[in-house]
Amino acid sequence: MSGPRSAEPVANLGPLDFEHVRNDFPALDQSVHGKPLVYLDSGATTQKPRSVIDAVAHYYAHDNANVHRGVHELSERATASYEGAREKVRAFINAPSVAEVVFSRGTTESINLMAQSYGRPRLQRGDEILITEMEHHSNIVPWQLLCEQTGAALKVAPIDDTGQLIVEEYRRRLNERTRIVAMVHISNALGTINPVAELIGAAHDAGAVVIVDGAQAAAHVPIDVQALDCDFYAMSSHKVFGPTGIGALYGKRGLLEDMPPYQGGGDMIEHVSFEKTTYNEPPYKFEAGTPNIAGAAGFGAALDYVTDIGLDAIRVFENNVFEYATGRIAEMDGARIIGTASSKCSIVSFLLGAAHPSDIGTILDRQGVAIRTGHHCAMPVMRHFGVPGTARASFAMYNNRADVDTLVEALRVAERILN
Ligand code: ALA
Repeated sequence: MSGPRSAEPVANLGPLDFEHVRNDFPALDQSVHGKPLVYLDSGATTQKPRSVIDAVAHYYAHDNANVHRGVHELSERATASYEGAREKVRAFINAPSVAEVVFSRGTTESINLMAQSYGRPRLQRGDEILITEMEHHSNIVPWQLLCEQTGAALKVAPIDDTGQLIVEEYRRRLNERTRIVAMVHISNALGTINPVAELIGAAHDAGAVVIVDGAQAAAHVPIDVQALDCDFYAMSSHKVFGPTGIGALYGKRGLLEDMPPYQGGGDMIEHVSFEKTTYNEPPYKFEAGTPNIAGAAGFGAALDYVTDIGLDAIRVFENNVFEYATGRIAEMDGARIIGTASSKCSIVSFLLGAAHPSDIGTILDRQGVAIRTGHHCAMPVMRHFGVPGTARASFAMYNNRADVDTLVEALRVAERILN
């Protein structure tokens, strides 16, 4: 694929006000090794706008108290901020009710929670769990643990050599034994966007319950859990411009109500005695202990930020930059893009001649360009393509074509040194 050769005026790219957005992210305004930072590692974690940083600081400076427990003003403010963030998550993913939004440490914990609370009591020998070949380790290992615990078997739907799920193979693996299907919305290693609504429908036809790993999706595509009809949806705040250490698990109310708690502790109970403890309602049943209150405040501010700009505007702007990046990298001699599915966004994984990805990453870093290299916690994807790892440039709304041009110049330097 070849793309236009020069940076276009931002105004041509859509309604997103790029300069305004870029200036909202203080960490982007710095030099690294004497060069202006070009941050192309948002797939690993996004930078944070000032409003998110301010929301976290405001909580600690003004409202710091525990939630749900105090009658005093600060506790009420902390609770309002925490529960307000839950409502923001609900609205962002169009969940029917805040009772269906469980705060977790992030996507990984959300998946583990579902595996252990939903899967462990229900699954037994003879049952199957279906995942795809493009999953992140956090959507593989929890299922392997569950299989060890229950005797269930893990099945894997393969991808083709463009990095796209082979839907017929996926359908072939669905049967009356399939109890849980777990799939990624957007692949962190390839950028492939899965046709999740279609895949969920097929899983439901087979009688399976579906969890979607939305870690990479939240910053790039609108999420509507009702339209998708997924049973569970996992996401992380830090991939959508919010703080680390907090995320959410959406679960359909009836399923959450029937699930035992994930952890025991304060806040998740209704009544405790040594003879018998009864549990709180969802979502509190799954939120034992003092939660990440500051993180929730930041998470809510991040979702406000994205909502104010609008995911449609973000999508138009980002796709333009992404297509340009794909074209510019593809036209380099010796470049091999790993992941060329027809439906992709935000991530370009590639190799450059025989150069080792980590050497590419190191040389780019000296030029101020931050990318990620390695297996991206998706070793089976690397095995599919017969590579130990890739160099990965991942884009967010604060990257423009000039960033791509800087990346390509830096790659040419790496190419000269390494090949
Ligand atoms: N899952 C994160 C990534 O893809 C860490 O970089």
